[in-house]
Amino acid sequence: MPDDTLSWMNELTAEMEERRKRVERGGGEARVRKQHKLGKMTARERICALLDQDTFVELGVFVEHLGVEMMRDVDAPGEGVVTGYGKIDGRTVFVFSQDFTILGGSLGKMHAQKITKVMDAAVRTGAPIIGLNDSAGARIQEGVDALSGYGEVFYRNAIYSGVVPQISAILGPCAGGAVYSPALTDFVVMAQGSSYMFITGPEVIRSVTKEEVTFEELGGSEVHTRLSGVAHFEAEDDAGVLRLIRRLLSYLPQSAREKPPLRPTDDPEARETPELLSIVHPDQRRPYPMVDVIRILVDNAEFFEIHPDFARNILVGFARLGGQPVGVVANNPRHLAGTLNIDASDKAARFIRTCDSFNLPIVTLVDVTGFLPGVAQEHAGIIRHGAKMLYAYAEATVPKITLIIRKSYGGAYLAMNSVDMGADVVLAWPTSAVAVLGAEGATDIVYRREIQASRTPEVTRNSRIEDYRRKFDNPYWAAGRGYIDDVIDPKDTRRHLIRHLRMLENKEEPRPFKKHGNIPL
Ligand code: HXC
Repeated sequence: MPDDTLSWMNELTAEMEERRKRVERGGGEARVRKQHKLGKMTARERICALLDQDTFVELGVFVEHLGVEMMRDVDAPGEGVVTGYGKIDGRTVFVFSQDFTILGGSLGKMHAQKITKVMDAAVRTGAPIIGLNDSAGARIQEGVDALSGYGEVFYRNAIYSGVVPQISAILGPCAGGAVYSPALTDFVVMAQGSSYMFITGPEVIRSVTKEEVTFEELGGSEVHTRLSGVAHFEAEDDAGVLRLIRRLLSYLPQSAREKPPLRPTDDPEARETPELLSIVHPDQRRPYPMVDVIRILVDNAEFFEIHPDFARNILVGFARLGGQPVGVVANNPRHLAGTLNIDASDKAARFIRTCDSFNLPIVTLVDVTGFLPGVAQEHAGIIRHGAKMLYAYAEATVPKITLIIRKSYGGAYLAMNSVDMGADVVLAWPTSAVAVLGAEGATDIVYRREIQASRTPEVTRNSRIEDYRRKFDNPYWAAGRGYIDDVIDPKDTRRHLIRHLRMLENKEEPRPFKKHGNIPL
């Protein structure tokens, strides 16, 4: 190559490198220092920590904002967001990472376009999309263009829901549109102490409602993982959030077209589980840690609990059985006696639909007396919310196995996926009981007149309760009518579950034509 061409080329590549470096510097040293001082990583550091080493490929490096009106003289390298793709455990993922050091990570039209481009690419190629959110919401200077940008993101969040996994990390003070996009995705993970989610911040609230509230009290990770249920997980810092996302993805397929990845296990499939008998108390009223039951049953005691601090009366999460990823739904007798209430119904229904979207079989462990009684629950719409669970189970076409551990009463019997609601296999332990009501409640209703008329009401009542128990406090009445496929020895539970999962491996369940169902929201 002639010398003058070579030097011309060198000049051009030097300019290219300088432009790239300018983008990579983000909002400058002072803002990066502030980010670090708050215990946060920068947008690029986060991508490095999330992805397998040296696998990140950046897209849209030189994109700039539209430069009109209030943005005319504003410098925003890279448009405040880093986008591209890379690998996690060797599998492709697409990622966007908002840069708070540039205009507070606020979203303008071109910032949104960078995000929607990787969302589109994720769907076209069938790979998860991960959003690392650290954004003050719509970019004020861009007016309706910023709102339109959010519209384009939300639209895709909705249309791509159930197509590829969408995961959101909340890694800063996310406001307005910056929280509605995560809320439309499958999983939301927050960093403790440095991330917040709110529609209107403390100052606006003070001026409108006169309420005094801090960022943490309004929308910190504790609020959203325990109270509102908006976030599924919290981790101690950015690095913890990113590690958690890597682990979460290990249970999920790349898209709805695939099955979740099998992971061979050294945990024997026929491993006996006699220790279960010392955990589950035969007295129906004695609580026990359901989480221990799950851990004993699954491969290597690994239960990846989702929403662990929200609606603790129901447990949901991922695990593996014989290497096969499954979703587990289980009543938790340690909290509100394992009854179903509004939050538990929402939590479980959402999880069931997530499993069904991404081809994870569902294993349901039942120990439930019913829906939580109370005026507050009725007035807040337990009927509408409980119906979501019925709907979600019936709608799900993935393999569904139900194991009744102790009691399974009334509406909750159906809401925990009975055979009539579409369970493929229903198993029960000898300790189980299926009935419309518990013995005392049933007796007081059915034999009220007889008890009132009796000269020894207490004796009559106790005798009727005993009669009822003999009839219904066992699995055989239900098994005799075909509602239970088998009554099994608790120590063989793992073997039974894995065997039935294998049998259901190629299950197909065609449904009548519809545009889409209308789940009661
Ligand atoms: C443009 C913004 C911005 C915004 C902050 N900045 N918010 N720029 N648009 N929305 C800029 C600041 O000017 C500052 O620039 C830098 O980002 C950092 O902001 P600070 O306020 O210094 O940071 P901090 O003290 O950490 O406070 C963060 C914050 C606060 C809590 C997020 O900035 C804030 O309340 N911002 C406004 C949030 C908001 O109301 N957004 C609109 C929501 S409505 P310099 O140059 O000094 O670094 C919405 C519409 C869509 O999103 C709704 C759809 C449903």
